[in-house]
Amino acid sequence: MEHYYFAAARALHVLAVVLWIGGVGFVTTVLIPSIRKTQSPENRLDLFELLEGKFGFQAKLTTLITGATGFYMLHIMKAWATMQWWIHLMIFVWLIFTLVLFVFEPLFLHKWFHQQAEKNNQRAFYYLQVMHTILLSISLLAVFAGVAGIHGLFY
Ligand code: HEM
Repeated sequence: MEHYYFAAARALHVLAVVLWIGGVGFVTTVLIPSIRKTQSPENRLDLFELLEGKFGFQAKLTTLITGATGFYMLHIMKAWATMQWWIHLMIFVWLIFTLVLFVFEPLFLHKWFHQQAEKNNQRAFYYLQVMHTILLSISLLAVFAGVAGIHGLFY
């Protein structure tokens, strides 16, 4: 029976990762560059906060599902002590997003970015794009290393 649960957890894990990292990819490569190009500084902040606010809920939900299914699989595999580096990378990426979405954003990041964007809009949106590009890159690396590692590329 356990292997059915494991397979279901793995499928759910990948489903959540697809929706989550796909969304991060869209925000990074389409949404932010388009907003920077087409919107006046006064409109930029409003539009970005509206659109990314909507994605925020989806990101929180998919982060929770990814974490729950990931830790469940580790538990079934009894792999805590023998985790490969690509699982460490997955957990690292998950931890960064979890901290940003559930702790930093509500505590100070949202307010801080709002203030920065009002002070120097051009600069704030440039750094917003840089930060999203870094987050997207390590996320894609985790997807690549995860699938490649699990299926034997590194040994
Ligand atoms: C708490 C965080 C996470 C934990 C504990 C975790 C754990 C796991 C485990 C145990 C597996 C199955 C390994 C195996 O069958 O040998 C797995 C698969 C996978 N994980 Fe994660 N993961 C986490 C977060 C992430 C993140 C953030 C990503 C991507 C950005 C990711 C992408 C994947 C992918 C694509 C697979 C499927 C690979 C395949 O079946 O070919 N995981 N994860």
